[in-house]
Amino acid sequence: MDRAKSLSLPRGGAPRGNGRLSFFVGFLKRPALVGSAVPSSRFLERRIVEASGVRSARSVVELGPGTGGTTRALLHALPREGRLLAIEINRDFAPPLAKLDDPRLRLFWGSAADIRRALAAAGLEAPEIVVSGIPFSTIPPETGRRILQEVWDCLAPGGRFVSYQLMSRVARLAPELLGPPRVRLEPRNLPPLRVFLWRKPA
Ligand SMILES: C[S@@+](CC[C@H](N)C(=O)[O-])C[C@H]1O[C@@H](n2cnc3c(N)ncnc32)[C@H](O)[C@@H]1O
Repeated sequence: MDRAKSLSLPRGGAPRGNGRLSFFVGFLKRPALVGSAVPSSRFLERRIVEASGVRSARSVVELGPGTGGTTRALLHALPREGRLLAIEINRDFAPPLAKLDDPRLRLFWGSAADIRRALAAAGLEAPEIVVSGIPFSTIPPETGRRILQEVWDCLAPGGRFVSYQLMSRVARLAPELLGPPRVRLEPRNLPPLRVFLWRKPA
């Protein structure tokens, strides 16, 4: 289903323990799609927030919110007038995501490759920031390339694309499109992940 929908999250967010169990079950069912057995740590969430520049953003898209930990961290940093569109392909994560309650959040069920349709459904224009948790090393390369092309096409001039990854395949999928990334390692995440950042020319 591709409708945009507001979600609810109690103040302070859903209990992290519940998110971890749902995440692990989701991984067991679709390992290549989910790409990790555990959700991002608080250390990685902080690094994603800093790399994305979400604190001064008005329009942000998150690809692959999973059980919503990164979504909650982005919302925590997002200004009051900002908007966050989260695009998730895996309906198994509907229960934990349904616990999010923030009027700035819209959820789109479908593929990140449909980012333009999701933006239109949410009534949003070109995002300044796209944050992606999609495991580009385990999804088919042609799907990954299509997602990167769509992200780059819809990103506002001067916008940022942040992708956190175990492997560096994302940087090899479309180097002619994105150019060289800035890369930072977050060693305190289990497993340690790399945070790739690209900036679209203004
Ligand atoms: C590694 S998990 C990241 C979850 C969460 N953001 C975190 O960091 O804890 C990857 C997520 O991407 C989602 N995903 C994979 N392929 C996708 C696609 N083509 N479109 C949207 N979401 C996708 C998976 O279902 C999963 O929720």
